[in-house]
Amino acid sequence: MTTSPTVNDPAWSELAQRALACCADLAACTEVPGQITRTFLSAPMHGAHARLDVWAADLGLDTQVDAAGNWRATRRSPRPDARTLVIGSHLDTVPNAGAYDGVLGVVLGLSLLEALRATPLPYHVEVVGFSEEEGVRFGVPFIGSRALIGTADGLLQVTDAQGKTVAQAITDYGLDVGTLGDAQLSGDVLGYLELHIEQGPVLEAEARPLGLVEAIAGQSRLSLTFTGKANHAGTTPMRLRRDALTGASAFVLAAETLAQNTPGLVATVGSLIVLPGAGNVIPGEVQLTLDLRHAQDEVRREALARLLAQAGQIAEERGLSWTSELRMEELATPMNPALTALLEQALRAEGHSAAAVVSGAGHDAMLLGQVWPAAMLFLRSPGGLSHHPDEAVLLPDVEAALQVGTRFLRLLAEEAR
Ligand code: GLV
Ligand code: MN
Ligand code: MN
Repeated sequence: MTTSPTVNDPAWSELAQRALACCADLAACTEVPGQITRTFLSAPMHGAHARLDVWAADLGLDTQVDAAGNWRATRRSPRPDARTLVIGSHLDTVPNAGAYDGVLGVVLGLSLLEALRATPLPYHVEVVGFSEEEGVRFGVPFIGSRALIGTADGLLQVTDAQGKTVAQAITDYGLDVGTLGDAQLSGDVLGYLELHIEQGPVLEAEARPLGLVEAIAGQSRLSLTFTGKANHAGTTPMRLRRDALTGASAFVLAAETLAQNTPGLVATVGSLIVLPGAGNVIPGEVQLTLDLRHAQDEVRREALARLLAQAGQIAEERGLSWTSELRMEELATPMNPALTALLEQALRAEGHSAAAVVSGAGHDAMLLGQVWPAAMLFLRSPGGLSHHPDEAVLLPDVEAALQVGTRFLRLLAEEAR
């Protein structure tokens, strides 16, 4: 495409199809054949980077992978005082994921540059494929975006399930952990734009292809352990047991009840490790995760305090001991009003509603938004489904997102002139 397409131009469809084909291509880079599972700095991430390199080379972009494993492609503006607009999302996935969470936002960054290939821009554009947003491998999310804002160093000694540190994972991937500081975004940053699937049902229910994100809910993630006493399942009477799993189960239900009774609160126990894990042994230890989110930090914090108090009470009643560790807390993040107003203008100019939505999912924009102006555009999720292999996106919605994104970049160019 030599000039950027006009509104009903079939070139939008071609561009959207190329983006979806690229997502399908990236889906082939997986740790588990037959699924899409691509965690932080796993071997298949090399394949994902190589595939993106091909498209970036086509666009004449310089690419590199920084020491945190973020894939970065830069289009430089000839203007000497140019600032940088960052467009991105993440390339890691949850286990058995869909093909679009994160990946689509990275790919659409390239699509937007393709659409504006022949249009000079008064700002540099850096497209970033963040290495880690999901928190799957190390239990701590946003390692990639933390590196861009210069706060990843504190995570280097965190270990994964195999006992490997983040620092070792970086080295094993072939990167130089000593240059982690260079991953920090330097220079004058104009802002951050992230395009992402909604991952929820709201846009579909409202028959809207796109949504303007006004804020991202805050979240707390914890690891908890309940410890009782492993013993023989046949010989130990019920009244003499100290079963860690029944205690953990009471906690799981307490979390569900609290969230059901607190408007806007969501609480999830997504992982349980039961030890020793045999059918004829009373569970002696259970390790579990808790993920708690709300758009208001006060509500989330109060809920967390109540749940921890309940964990203590459950443990006491059942003769268990328990520990908890806060693995991560991110505050609710409003998007930048000025950049969001520009995105709203772009939505309206392309004939879309600009009604705002709150994101219950976390995004790299939470981290970049702490330092630079950030704005997010959602694409409708068919069936409201995400973190699932059937996650989908509609081709016309991708076209619409490209039209709005391109309009946004043009409006930003006018402002930056
Ligand atoms: C990221 O997908 C999250 O858990 O919100
Ligand atoms: Mn996700
Ligand atoms: Mn995501």
